[in-house]
Amino acid sequence: MGAERYVLANFKMNKNLFEIKKWADEFLSLLYKGKKLSLKVGCAPTFIYIKALKEIVIGTGFLVGAQNMHFEEKGAFTGEVSPTQLKDIGVDFVIIGHSERRNIFGESDELISKKLVSALKHNILPVLCVGETKEEREKGETEKVLIKQISILSKIPDELKNQKIVIAYEPVWAIGTGIPATKDKIEKAVELIRKEASKFIKDFSVLYGGSIDEKVAEEIKDICDGGLVGTASLDPQKFYKISQNFDI
Ligand code: PGA
Repeated sequence: MGAERYVLANFKMNKNLFEIKKWADEFLSLLYKGKKLSLKVGCAPTFIYIKALKEIVIGTGFLVGAQNMHFEEKGAFTGEVSPTQLKDIGVDFVIIGHSERRNIFGESDELISKKLVSALKHNILPVLCVGETKEEREKGETEKVLIKQISILSKIPDELKNQKIVIAYEPVWAIGTGIPATKDKIEKAVELIRKEASKFIKDFSVLYGGSIDEKVAEEIKDICDGGLVGTASLDPQKFYKISQNFDI
């Protein structure tokens, strides 16, 4: 049996409560009207809307995620949200190490590895993002960067090594640009990620993220196990189409 397939929406800092409810209603009605999808679909809104989204989708199998979390359970960490707090409101998955967290908020591989282990400990599915910048690709460092980012999997203690992990290949230069990576670039990177990750863990899926639209989804559906979708996910029709195209 192949790896589990996922199509996950990353809303980033977009949409208000009204808009999220409307999005969820529209997406669920498309989901019910259309052919049943065999892959898992989900969405990570801003922290404060997680609970509202969870209430709408409860019992549907739709996954609700967070875009970040702290690794500690509690303490003096102003502005942070803990894994136990996320569990408390029913979070299923958490995006860890998104390039915007790495580049804008200075998150290091060391911090990201602590978050990854903490998510596993608390039974929250981690979606670990990796990917090279434009500069790194131009300098021929793509492989080196991916190998280093994946090597944090070595920090997972033995008792958590059998848990499922989702890895998203997200080349930084393709995120939010409207210019996705080409199929051959994605194929090469995903192959490398699979090879490197399998040195440390067994049960993992590899997604692609970076300007995914329905055309990209159709093109790469056999190469990876789904997608992490930013901009296009904001439109429920587009997100549904992408989910359908990744469903094989
Ligand atoms: P994008 O974002 O689809 O807008 O490129 C993807 C992401 O950042 O996860």
